[in-house]
Amino acid sequence: MMIMTNKQNPAPQRFLTGITTTGTPHLGNYVGSIRPSVAASTGASAESFYFLADYHALIKCDEPARIQQSTLEIAASWLAAGLDPERVTFYRQSDIPEIPELTWLLTCVTAKGVLNRAHAYKASVDKNTAAGNDPDADVSAGLFMYPVLMGADILMFKAHQVPVGRDQIQHIEMARDMGQRFNHLYGEHFVLPQALIEESVALLPGLDGRKMSKSYDNTIPLFTPREQLRKLIAGIVTDSRAPGEAKDTEGSALFQIYQAFASAQETAALRQAFANGIAWGDAKQTLFERIDQEVAPMRARYQELMQDPAKIEAILLAGADKARRLATPFMRELRQAVGLRQLAAATVPATKSKAVKTGLPVFKQYRETDGRFHFKLLDAQGGLLLQSDGFDSPRDAGKAIALLQAEGAAALTALRPKLQPVPGVSDEAITAALQGLADNAS
Ligand code: TRP
Repeated sequence: MMIMTNKQNPAPQRFLTGITTTGTPHLGNYVGSIRPSVAASTGASAESFYFLADYHALIKCDEPARIQQSTLEIAASWLAAGLDPERVTFYRQSDIPEIPELTWLLTCVTAKGVLNRAHAYKASVDKNTAAGNDPDADVSAGLFMYPVLMGADILMFKAHQVPVGRDQIQHIEMARDMGQRFNHLYGEHFVLPQALIEESVALLPGLDGRKMSKSYDNTIPLFTPREQLRKLIAGIVTDSRAPGEAKDTEGSALFQIYQAFASAQETAALRQAFANGIAWGDAKQTLFERIDQEVAPMRARYQELMQDPAKIEAILLAGADKARRLATPFMRELRQAVGLRQLAAATVPATKSKAVKTGLPVFKQYRETDGRFHFKLLDAQGGLLLQSDGFDSPRDAGKAIALLQAEGAAALTALRPKLQPVPGVSDEAITAALQGLADNAS
């Protein structure tokens, strides 16, 4: 057999990213996340996980209908943009019960002080402090715990690379730290992830020239109808240069958006048109047609999918199935690692008693020198719990044992005349032992 080194046979890289389900996808999301992710997911050696981070959505949004609608729209957008759920694992976070379970295990290895320094939480605290309010005013524990939930998302699926925006780098580093700490305490279970920042993906400007973002209310929805798209593009801010006057590409939101969709050749042509004094109205028309050309086929698929939410639901559930085939056994392994274990397999200090080996109480039947038949009940450590008087036959002794096994402590009253008192043994101890036997038998 040939042994390959890592270099010759690199393990497939696993990519994972989540999308918080609070909004409607816009062109900025498409250029910055959806398009590059879909392209990467078709790469031969890549293994990709994409999920709808609806637990994260609850941190920011308390409108149930909006979360549902956003989940539907984001799922439909990714599918319409060409994400192939057969090739990738595409699922909804809240369909994976192992995620909140892992969140708790990670919570217990995360220093509170580290979470105090998480950007999103710190920003809220700083704002409150500046306003003279209580530092934690209006801060939910969910916001505080945000990085741990995200750590669980990433560590659960042993992702190597996590494509995210710059604002998320700190969270990936925290996930790394959680993984490292856990591995240190409980053995090597987690892969330590890295943030993947696409340098080449430009930030798309919005209608007002600032970064396109829901919080600036300057977005162009990705699948807005064609006529609406035309109207929105007409609203992009420009300067007041008249037709015939040369235009500046530098700092032009219109030009930057065009560049994100056009080929190098097309971009060069528009640059030339700017220099030649193209009218803003014509430049907007050019941009509109270029975007629509790319978006129109996807828009048709999107609208079709939006008509069929049951189909999207089925796709997500199939994705969750696929994801849980990894998460369920991994969670079992992690529970075992931290000591959340079945007790039947517990190691019990060894003594000579047979009962000790099985860790269970045991009945013993024997014949005394007087020729009569007795039994006793020993606890798991071999200690005496019950001691009978003599019975005439082994059958009679066996019947008494069977009665105790069948009825447990309830049989004690009837049998009392045939039992000898055992000093220091309470009825509770006998009851517990009989219960233990019954549980083991069932
Ligand atoms: N917090 C991310 C965002 O707002 C979304 C997200 C949740 C995520 N879990 C994740 C991204 C895990 C990457 C990996 O963009």
